[in-house]
Amino acid sequence: MTTLNTTPLAPLLERLFHEAAEASPAMSAAIAGFSDEERAQLMRSKSGYLDLYARLKDVPLPVSRETGALLYMLARGGARNIVEFGTSFGISTLHLAAALRDNGGGRLVTTEFEPSKVARARRNLEAGGLADLVEIREGDALQTLAAELPDSIDLLLLDGAKALYPEILALVESRLRPGAFIVADNADHSPEYLAHVRSPASGYMSVPFGDDVELSMRLG
Ligand SMILES: C[S@@+](CC[C@H](N)C(=O)[O-])C[C@H]1O[C@@H](n2cnc3c(N)ncnc32)[C@H](O)[C@@H]1O
Repeated sequence: MTTLNTTPLAPLLERLFHEAAEASPAMSAAIAGFSDEERAQLMRSKSGYLDLYARLKDVPLPVSRETGALLYMLARGGARNIVEFGTSFGISTLHLAAALRDNGGGRLVTTEFEPSKVARARRNLEAGGLADLVEIREGDALQTLAAELPDSIDLLLLDGAKALYPEILALVESRLRPGAFIVADNADHSPEYLAHVRSPASGYMSVPFGDDVELSMRLG
């Protein structure tokens, strides 16, 4: 048995994933009026993300169930210190914190700039019995992750504004321990990020999985 598949977390995640699926029309409405090309441009813009995510402030936008399970498994390999970019309602956060609990403890620093999402994530972490493991930093990750990170980081989840993946990795990179994993969701929206982690000279091994995940390991 794991924290992930027992009460209170298992039924909570079931409800949150169900509500996220139901919110899909709200997401379409929030970004209605943009052409496919405009949407792609917004995703790649290093400033347009503020407007985009303000429109999406009531939409959970979680990782897939499979990615959630992957996060739990990668973190269960003994992770003690985890950093997450993009908390939203805390669905990925719950998976990562569950792994820390089952590892015997640890610290997860996550960040989100939408105050209402921070409040929801806090409620979900309380309901899941995992709040004691998680520090939610409210604000733009470019500032909130610029200081006071753990000295040695075992796992980094990138799931905020895709255009900022290179900048956020740069903030965290020197603290990633050899063997640390980076999971980057929907990284195809950041060709600059993919070029970096896929270049052997950058010190990573990196492969895409499914349609949505780039999994990378820090080598040295
Ligand atoms: C795809 S959602 C995250 C979903 C979450 N990881 C999960 O699986 O439940 C992306 C979130 O990142 C937040 N975000 C985007 N850019 C950000 C930034 N620069 N700083 C802080 N939060 C940001 C958005 O408000 C949004 O809630």
